[in-house]
Amino acid sequence: MRGMYICLCNAVTDHDIRREVADGVRSFGELQARTGCSDCCGCCESEARACLSQALEQTALPAFVAVA
Ligand code: FES
Repeated sequence: MRGMYICLCNAVTDHDIRREVADGVRSFGELQARTGCSDCCGCCESEARACLSQALEQTALPAFVAVA
């Protein structure tokens, strides 16, 4: 499953962005360097940044929640 296209110019999907975060990407610049996202027309930048932020937030969540 490829997911939803975020950057049409470079065929970058939301899955690609989440995978890049799982592989260590922590900034928009890193995402651009690794995928080419938003380096052409730039129409996707706000959506790409939102997707990246969401993926980073999910990464920051603890792996489990202790039950009191
Ligand atoms: S749609 Fe992403 S750079 Fe054009």
